[in-house]
Amino acid sequence: MAEIIYPRIWTLPTRLIGRSVEEHDSIDSTNSRALELAQNSANDGQVILAHEQSAGRGQYGRTWSAPSRSSVLLSVLLFPPAALRRPVIFTSWAAVAVGDLIFDLVGLQAKIKWPNDVLLHGKKVCGILIEQRTTGLPDHPLATIVGIGLNVSQSGENFQAANLPEAGSLLSLTGRSLDYSEVAEGLIRRLDDDYQELLEGQYQTLESQWIWRLGLLGRNVEVELADRRVQGRLLDLTFEGLLLEKDGCFERIAPEQVRHVTERTWPT
Ligand code: BTN
Repeated sequence: MAEIIYPRIWTLPTRLIGRSVEEHDSIDSTNSRALELAQNSANDGQVILAHEQSAGRGQYGRTWSAPSRSSVLLSVLLFPPAALRRPVIFTSWAAVAVGDLIFDLVGLQAKIKWPNDVLLHGKKVCGILIEQRTTGLPDHPLATIVGIGLNVSQSGENFQAANLPEAGSLLSLTGRSLDYSEVAEGLIRRLDDDYQELLEGQYQTLESQWIWRLGLLGRNVEVELADRRVQGRLLDLTFEGLLLEKDGCFERIAPEQVRHVTERTWPT
């Protein structure tokens, strides 16, 4: 069999995302590579996929690492129109796409933990890191990079050894061995399908899937903001805001202000 030379460039018959995929055997970070490509708007929809990262980035400055080909590590570079340039849209889009893909692959419904962790059986199977960069390009002033790490085939022992007891993979949580390339391709196709809906201004399906996968509507929650925590019953949740009620007092909070939302019980 002919040796594959990386990076390998391949293409999917999608509308935008994945028309060009740059697949690396090893790279520092797929998000960093996508940021390098953000100076050219012709790279809209470019996917960077890597079997392994030497400097993978997670949220809050953490690192993100996984053994080679155990995790689908990819970044999508986008130049979204102004209406879509909201973190809540991007985080929910990526998390819902991963949740729907997991259902297709293993028949189980994943939950979203605010803002954008995907949990299966309560364990984190996917992390998402969204980064934005101003480009200076007149027609495409802002590039958005959506980085996704979806754990596919690590063993439970692997997470224990890495001191990650709250993490899991599709294999460790379901016993299902999945083909790495099929998972990667399935994810890219789903991201592309769902992004087209957003470009067409159709947000309702995404919003309702996001609310359902969060599972917080109607629950007693604690909302962590930059400078304080708010408790209350979550009466309403949309892309426009959260509506909390406690002791007859109501508070509306924009999603972008919210760091975490956790279900809580407290004495009434
Ligand atoms: C998190 O901390 O939950 C977010 C993790 C995001 C990891 C992915 S892996 C592919 C992409 N490249 C990176 O360097 N990070 C993201």
